[in-house]
Amino acid sequence: MTVLAIRDLTIRIAGRPLLEGADLMVDTGRKIGLVGRNGAGKSTLLRAITGQLQPDAGEIRLATRARMSHVAQEAPGGPTSLLDTVLAADTERASLLAELESTEDGARLAEIHERLIAIRADSAPSRAATVLSGLGFDAAAQLRPVSEFSGGWRMRVALASALFLEPDLLLLDEPTNHLDLEATLWLEGWLARFPGAALVVSHDRGMLERGVDAIAHLDQRKITLYPGNYDNFVRIRTERAAQQQAMNEKIAAQRAHMQSFVDRFRAKATKARQAQSRLKALEKLPQIEAVVEDHVTRFSFPEPAELAPPILSLAKADAGYDGRTVLGNLDLRIDQEDRIALLGANGNGKSTLAKLLAGRLEPMRGSIHRAPRLKVGYFAQHQTDELDLNGTPLSHMQEALGNKATETQCRSQLARFGLDEERATTKISSLSGGEKGRLLLALCTREAPQMLILDEPTNHLDIDAREALVRALADYNGAVILITHDPHLVELAADKLWLVGDGKVANFDGDLDDYRTYLAERARAARQANATPGKERPRDERKERAEARAALAPLRERVTKIEAEMAKMQREADLIAKKLSDPETHTRFPAAEIAKVTQKHGLLLKQIGVLEEEWLELQEKLEAA
Ligand SMILES: Nc1ncnc2c1ncn2[C@@H]1O[C@H](COP(=O)(O)OP(=O)(O)OP(=O)(O)O)[C@@H](O)[C@H]1O
Ligand SMILES: [Mg+2]
Repeated sequence: MTVLAIRDLTIRIAGRPLLEGADLMVDTGRKIGLVGRNGAGKSTLLRAITGQLQPDAGEIRLATRARMSHVAQEAPGGPTSLLDTVLAADTERASLLAELESTEDGARLAEIHERLIAIRADSAPSRAATVLSGLGFDAAAQLRPVSEFSGGWRMRVALASALFLEPDLLLLDEPTNHLDLEATLWLEGWLARFPGAALVVSHDRGMLERGVDAIAHLDQRKITLYPGNYDNFVRIRTERAAQQQAMNEKIAAQRAHMQSFVDRFRAKATKARQAQSRLKALEKLPQIEAVVEDHVTRFSFPEPAELAPPILSLAKADAGYDGRTVLGNLDLRIDQEDRIALLGANGNGKSTLAKLLAGRLEPMRGSIHRAPRLKVGYFAQHQTDELDLNGTPLSHMQEALGNKATETQCRSQLARFGLDEERATTKISSLSGGEKGRLLLALCTREAPQMLILDEPTNHLDIDAREALVRALADYNGAVILITHDPHLVELAADKLWLVGDGKVANFDGDLDDYRTYLAERARAARQANATPGKERPRDERKERAEARAALAPLRERVTKIEAEMAKMQREADLIAKKLSDPETHTRFPAAEIAKVTQKHGLLLKQIGVLEEEWLELQEKLEAA
């Protein structure tokens, strides 16, 4: 059965079409990942589906009586407790309960009771609590008001509300942005068990590879549905692009051939008629469509001036708030070529350290020394909240750079992060999530800082933009302090790891793999310390082991799948490499074709790398278990 049917949909925003004659069918139980570039119109499409926005043409039809729930990209607030906020999401239950208080009509009371039973109103609080705890809120936290939580945690509450409803159609807009690894895994599992249909906007490869069973690609104002996960989608797209390229070349060759015939004989009277008919045939040949290459996203950071080392140092410094020390006795030094990733669980003080280094927090004790003329760029997710909704990227950049800069300079700094002329003057309130993220990057690098502090920089960025950020960081000649939950980014962009925890900051001697092992060992040690000594419980242990084995089955399955996939990709990559190393290839094929294949080769290697990383991670988990 189809839950949602979108036909011939056209949506224009400020005169610009985002969708034109787009179609999408969502069947019951289907989990679809909606992907597309930043600003392609994904959030806009969700708004049209929920009815917050009127499409210009076409139809969006929801199955009769289907229930729908929706999480926007931005967070809720307010004084209500988490639990009550989630419960209130079921508006039917809320209004029935309210009516129960006010009505005296016996027949209506009976009706209300019947309906309350039908919608399982009794078990609602416990169901809400389960979802909240899955998303990382313990029992005490569930009773605290929403406003006490930071933006990231408030997003989890919005997500909990939507999941709690267990609708027929669930709409999620980048749900993993504010989740940590544990909560992301919980959500992937929840989605797999969820019987309804889901349309999930995401730039998160893990989610797109494990949480969905189809990919809807919003591109060139159309939506194309690909069965399978993201890997499969990339494979099909690559093949298709290669085919289209081949077809275009065939048509071009035919066209050139006919044209030369026409040119040669047009002048000769005897051949004029033939030339004429060729000319007609030529007109009938399909127009060559240049392969519609997604334009490549590139970011670039302004070149910083060189400073004498160290650019920053801390001696016996304590950092914290209101006299309470969060991090103590810090002896740290940062040089301009340092690439440091901060590790440690949420709440350990990573952001406190970031603020201290950025000069947004003064040490409570000890000293901090900054090189004269040191400029620091500080990127933090929550800064989107500080943007003036009525301003534009251009007005923010102008204000930030002061009267030092011309409008052209401001625009070119924005353009470094893909904010084009039109985006530069779009109101902040209208910008997409990824566009706001790009604006923050443009703002924090505007003064060519020698040190960049990036706190979760990839949230909201589309997959290409994430790669662009990695490349820009590689080219950047300044120090980088990185906080991210994306292991891929740490591996690519950092070469030093600092462990923040237990009130200290320590250099972590090893790479990310060593860190994973360290975490697993720590968890094991903690478990052992918690186990009551002397009490033997053989039965439970056996049960526990069986359960643990069962829990590992999906991991094992995934490992096998990855291995097969990697082998296949490697074979393909080897084949291409062999072809490319053959000099004959280069004489026989046009440069464009070769470039294409080289690109594909690169893509394959990249994909293999991603899989390898996941494979290692899974092995680690299996070993630890
Ligand atoms: N009132 C407006 N005036 C001009 N442009 C607008 C307006 N409202 C939205 N836009 C533009 O419409 C585009 C689509 O925005 P949308 O939020 O749907 O993108 P998205 O695909 O969800 O992107 P992201 O991946 O970054 O979240 C963006 O480029 C945005 O700047
Ligand atoms: Mg969006």
